[in-house]
Amino acid sequence: MEKFKPVKTALIGSGMISGIYLENGTKNLKILDVCGCSDLIPERSAKRAEEFGIRQMTNEEILSDPSIELIINTTYPTAHYDVAKAALEAGKHVYTEKMIAPSFEQARELRDLARSKGLFYCGAPDTFMGATFQTARQLIDGGLIGTPVAATAILARSYHHERYYTGDEKRFAFCPSGGVLYDMGSYYLTALVSLLGGIQEVCGFAQIRDPHRVYQNPDSPHYGEPMEVESWNNAAGTLRFENGVLATLMTTSESGGFENGLTIYGTNGRLTLGDPNEYGVPLTLTNKLGGPIELPMTHAYGNGNFRCIGVAEMAYAIRAGRVPRTEEMPVHVLEAAQGIWSSGEAGTFYKMTTKCSRPAPLPAGYTENPELSLR
Ligand SMILES: NC(=O)c1ccc[n+]([C@@H]2O[C@H](COP(=O)([O-])OP(=O)(O)OC[C@H]3O[C@@H](n4cnc5c(N)ncnc54)[C@H](O)[C@@H]3O)[C@@H](O)[C@H]2O)c1
Repeated sequence: MEKFKPVKTALIGSGMISGIYLENGTKNLKILDVCGCSDLIPERSAKRAEEFGIRQMTNEEILSDPSIELIINTTYPTAHYDVAKAALEAGKHVYTEKMIAPSFEQARELRDLARSKGLFYCGAPDTFMGATFQTARQLIDGGLIGTPVAATAILARSYHHERYYTGDEKRFAFCPSGGVLYDMGSYYLTALVSLLGGIQEVCGFAQIRDPHRVYQNPDSPHYGEPMEVESWNNAAGTLRFENGVLATLMTTSESGGFENGLTIYGTNGRLTLGDPNEYGVPLTLTNKLGGPIELPMTHAYGNGNFRCIGVAEMAYAIRAGRVPRTEEMPVHVLEAAQGIWSSGEAGTFYKMTTKCSRPAPLPAGYTENPELSLR
């Protein structure tokens, strides 16, 4: 059927996360015809190409191949803008890993460029399409917790103590767009927007706690040398949603104790959803009758790492002539994260300039052939 002809796809950025994209993209998602991959470091793309039986290509070969329709951009955050822009200018649809661009202004520019060319510029995360968040969406929409009134989202971890410093951090976790509010906050903000809808206004604080560090990773060539942290690693925000819900978001990469999770409070109970970086974490209900009680999942993609289902959903949207569920939200989410920081800098509330409607829910069921739920 022409409508579901596989979308010829190539991946740019064959680093760590490319493995799971290519695993799912070449083996599990029929709508994708992943033909090749590239990297600035050719050994990396050669390794992935061999691993998954696809072609090792250069960026130029990918962009000049008219049969390639869709680019998966899994470069590190500081390269997201240039790679996505080149791909859009070459007439390709783009799906970029989070955050969708280093700054909101750049993301808006590329969104406008894509729309002017009739292309889609979409972005991660796609974990909101997993079983936990889709089950929660159905339950909230069905009235299980009454009217949602408030939410909390929290991520506390330690990049410092995890000895994260490898030598690449200037281009990744410690670049301005790679701090914890962007790097991990995107999962929490995406989950909240997918459940509650668009954000109207934000305020908060984002800071760099102790910028002067020493490389702690013995495997780094810079081990023991001083380094400067350039991105916000401790941030707290308050969000007001269009529907009136008030939420708090706390992200820190400076905590010796790990915690993550997200809770939605409604007039008749609360749903606790666990880590939005996962697809199928337990979902519990607490209300006047008791709890917390774990609820069964009603949706597909509950047990595993399904990164790339967002690309597949986008490919189905391309074939069906509809807008992908990941088109509007990543730019909105980036604006909210940046708004939290800029509110603190300016000492004012930040009024969102982008609007975002909740992406359509995925249908329940489809456990035998989960890909059908993405059409
Ligand atoms: N590592 C994770 O666990 C993880 C999880 C989810 C999402 N992500 C996101 O995925 C993206 C990539 O993360 P990663 O951990 O794979 O990083 P990585 O540094 O391991 O890989 C990125 C790769 O992109 C390549 N690259 C950079 N600029 C390029 C260009 N112009 N052309 C071609 N290749 C280029 C680099 O050489 C590198 O191999 C980031 O946006 C990150 O936020 C990472």
